[in-house]
Amino acid sequence: MDPVAVIPQRFIFVFLALTGTILSIAGCRSQPALTAQEAEGKRLYSSRCAHCHEDNDLALKKVPPDLHGMFRHDKLPSGAPATDAEVQRVVLAGKNLMPAFAGRFTQDQMSALLAYLHTGLR
Ligand code: HEC
Repeated sequence: MDPVAVIPQRFIFVFLALTGTILSIAGCRSQPALTAQEAEGKRLYSSRCAHCHEDNDLALKKVPPDLHGMFRHDKLPSGAPATDAEVQRVVLAGKNLMPAFAGRFTQDQMSALLAYLHTGLR
């Protein structure tokens, strides 16, 4: 075979192999495993928040806002600052159709919930 024709084929093979490796490493980096605390927060979010915020199972007239990536913005859906303090306040005190969770989470559970919300909800 003409050696000149072989080189581009090898090059393409190496290029594809490298691209695949880089993409798979980048993919893993963007989705690191949840820490134990985040996993606990996910459990709490799934059992206490998701039925409203993802399913709106009570068919509330004001649809509970999507909380995915909420800490990536400066403001919460209402326009209040997207800070741990404000989110904790809303969860404990409730807001309009959202019930108050005062006394329902320990401080550790609240920290876990916030840690999970900071992951953007994975
Ligand atoms: C019964 C349904 C319901 C449950 C359960 C519920 N929420 Fe909500 N949530 C709402 C509604 C409705 C709103 C919109 C309130 C408004 O702005 O009038 C809301 C708003 C919010 C907001 C945005 C507040 C803002 O200022 O924009 C956050 C953050 C939030 N909820 C977090 C949670 C978390 C965390 C949980 C679980 C611990 C939870 N919610 C459980 C119904 C619910």
